Amino acid sequence: MKVLNRLALAISLSCLSQVPLAAQAGEVEVLHWWTSGGEARAVDTLKQLMQKQGHTWKDFAVAGGAGEAAMTVLKTRAVSGNPPSAAQLKGPDIQEWADMGFLTDLNGIAEAGKWNDILPERIADTMKHDGDYVAVPAGVHRINWLWINPEAFQKAGAKVPTTLDEFFAAADKLKAAGIVPIAHGGQNWQDTTIFESLVMAIMGPEAFDKVFVETDENTIRSDKMVEVFKTLKRIRGYVDPDFAGRDWNLATAMVINGKAGMQIMGDWAKAEFTAAGKTPGKDYLCVVMPGTQGSFIYNIDSLAMFKLKDEANKKAQNDLARTVIDKPFQEVFNLNKGSIPARNDIDMAKFDDCAKQSMQDFQAANKEGKAEPSLAHSMANTSYIQGAIFDVVTNFFNDPNADPKKATEQLVASIKAAQ
Ligand code: BGC
Repeated sequence: MKVLNRLALAISLSCLSQVPLAAQAGEVEVLHWWTSGGEARAVDTLKQLMQKQGHTWKDFAVAGGAGEAAMTVLKTRAVSGNPPSAAQLKGPDIQEWADMGFLTDLNGIAEAGKWNDILPERIADTMKHDGDYVAVPAGVHRINWLWINPEAFQKAGAKVPTTLDEFFAAADKLKAAGIVPIAHGGQNWQDTTIFESLVMAIMGPEAFDKVFVETDENTIRSDKMVEVFKTLKRIRGYVDPDFAGRDWNLATAMVINGKAGMQIMGDWAKAEFTAAGKTPGKDYLCVVMPGTQGSFIYNIDSLAMFKLKDEANKKAQNDLARTVIDKPFQEVFNLNKGSIPARNDIDMAKFDDCAKQSMQDFQAANKEGKAEPSLAHSMANTSYIQGAIFDVVTNFFNDPNADPKKATEQLVASIKAAQ
C-alpha cells in the first residue's frame, strides 16, 4: 500500500511538473539568414534555450549574407497570411512592417524586463514603433573592421595599417609576396560594406549621416565622394580574379588560411575565426578600418515579433522575446556571433579584446555623435534607397572603365529616383 501510494505520488508529481510545460509549449518559427559556420553556432544557442523551455523550434533559415533573399521570402509568407513568429528585421524595415500592422507589441514584457533601463537609448528607439516595443535586440555588430592574417603580413613584410595610405602600402607588399591583398566577395552588399567604410574614412561621421540617412544632395555631389569612388576603384585592383559572387564567409576563409592578407567586413567575420578555433591577437587581428578610428558603423541584429493567432504559439513567442533579452542569451549568443551584447549591463569578462574594444568604442562613439547606422545592413534607410545605392556601387565596382565623377552623379540620380 505504502509503495503504491508513493508510486502514485511520484506519478502525479511528475505529471504535475509536465502539465504546465505541455499545456504552454508552443512552436516558434524564426526567420533568419544565419547559415555560415559561425552564424549557425550562434543561432543554435537560441534554439537550445527555447527547447529547454519545452517549445518547438522551427528553423526558417534563408541563406544569403545581409538577408536580401530572406526579406523576399518573408514578404511572400506574410502576404499569404502565414508569417513566422519572429524574423530578423533591421532598423527602418521594422518600422515598415509595423506600419503595415504585422507586428505585435511587446510592451508588457519590455516593462517587466525594464528594457528602457537596460538598453542604450539608440537601440531601444530602433526596437520601437510609435513608442511601442515590437522587436527585441540580440546584439550589435560593427561594420568598420579590417581582419588581418598576421602571418601573411609577416611573410610580406607588411605593417598593420592605421591610415588609408598605410592600407595601400600593406596591400602592395602582400601583392608582391604573391598573397591576395584583399579577400572579397562580389555581391552588392559586400561591395557597399567597403563603400560605406570608405565614406566614413574619407568623409567622416557627420557626412556619413548626411549621405546615407538624410540623402543630402550637396553632400553626395562632392569632391570627397569622387575621392571615395576613386579609392574604391583602387581597392578593386587588389582583389583576386575569382571574387564575383563569392560568399563573405568564403572570403573570410581566405584570410583564415593565409591565402589572403585582409578583409573589410563586419564582425560576424570574427565568428568564422572563432568557429575555426583561432585566437584574436595571435592567429588573426581585428583592426579598426584605417581612417575610421573613433567612429562606429553599427548594425543591430533584432527579432521582430509577428501577430499570431494560436495561444500556445503566442506564449512561446513571448518566451522567445524574454529569452533573447535575458543575460545568458546575450552573453552566449554574442560570444559566438562576433557581436557585442545589446544590453548595457553585461559583464564583458568572457569576451575577447575585439569585442571589448567594440563595446568601448560603441559607447564612446554614441556619446560623441560618431555612431552611424549601416546602409549596407539595412539600418540607415529604406530598402528602396539601399537598392539604389547598391546598384550604383556594384556597377562601378565591376566596370574597369567606370568614372568616379560619373558614378557620383549617378548616385545622386539613382537616389532621387528611389525617393
Ligand atoms: C547581419 C548579420 C549577419 C551578416 C552576414 C548582416 O546583415 O546583421 O547578423 O551575420 O549580415 O550574413
